[in-house]
Amino acid sequence: MKIAFFSTQPYDRQYFTRFNKEHELVYFEARLGRETAALAKGCRAVCVFVNDVLDKEVLQILQQLGVEIIALRCAGYNNVDLKAASELDFAVVRVPAYSPHAVAEHAVALILSLNRKIHKAYNRVREGNFSLDRLTGFDLYGKTVGVIGTGKIGAVFAGIMGGFGCRVLAFDIIANRDLEANGVKYLPIMDILEQSDILSLHCPLNDQTRHLINDQTLSMIKPGSMLINTSRGALVDTEAAINALKSGRLGYLGIDVYEQEEKLFFYDRSEELIEDDLILRLISFPNVLITAHQGFFTEEALTQIAVTTLENIDLYAAGLPVKNSILG
Ligand code: NAI
Repeated sequence: MKIAFFSTQPYDRQYFTRFNKEHELVYFEARLGRETAALAKGCRAVCVFVNDVLDKEVLQILQQLGVEIIALRCAGYNNVDLKAASELDFAVVRVPAYSPHAVAEHAVALILSLNRKIHKAYNRVREGNFSLDRLTGFDLYGKTVGVIGTGKIGAVFAGIMGGFGCRVLAFDIIANRDLEANGVKYLPIMDILEQSDILSLHCPLNDQTRHLINDQTLSMIKPGSMLINTSRGALVDTEAAINALKSGRLGYLGIDVYEQEEKLFFYDRSEELIEDDLILRLISFPNVLITAHQGFFTEEALTQIAVTTLENIDLYAAGLPVKNSILG
């Protein structure tokens, strides 16, 4: 099958080419959208990532070009209009889990770096500044960590934080009994906001969770606490977070995802004028640490993404049921 890959980076090409046996892979750097959908001409499948846009109009173009299957090489599918995809008879498949450890460990990396100011210490020492002034952190041991969403990633994250000796609180629409048996306490979200020294988001982005962290919820958090978001940018109202940072209510912010990341993340913009004032404001805070959606970025996860995506397409091509199917 001929497959058009959108939003590809050198590592995508490397891993997919390594594991591909029988398909014809066509790689595009461009993001899928209305202007670029025509690139899929002659392909039965498109393979897309988190910031590709698959709205009704794009899906209609793809259908007219003869595309049958949308293969997401990620877990989240909030960027696909599933209703339109269903009406247009597309099969939609994804990689439901590639490495929950990769993302959970990255959330922990953000916590440790922000707390112990590793990013600042690294720069200081390189410049011959061995002073400890203003590098004070806090012990994680004994602190309260709130986990919003205890699915695959949140559960691994809760386990790691338990290992540090933290008190772990959780909120999810479905409680995980194994976590409860291991001492994680499920509470209403308001209680978690009030009690947590560190709050980490691991729920999907949907109509219920969009701007879950907003002016109102930020007014309830423990003053000076830390917010970590490795899930999806729009879970946090960025302007509200900036206001909470300015007032000191929010003590630290660590994000691997950003509401308006589409135009920035995964690209080298170092020689360009960045027009996004919100991210520039965030970058200016000493207590904010931003990574550009690299939570998933481990060898294990890249291998799993390539292998599962190609398997999904193999099964579809053979007319067999695809267990990772969202539609079709
Ligand atoms: P999952 O589906 O295993 O877990 C999500 C959990 O959130 C479930 O337990 C679900 O019940 C819960 N949930 C749903 N609605 C909720 C709500 N309104 N409030 C609280 N909890 C709610 O998903 P997984 O694999 O753990 O991934 C979590 C998120 O991490 C994904 O949705 C994705 O957005 C993000 N992600 C980020 C990556 C990165 O590189 N930074 C890579 C992979 C995923």
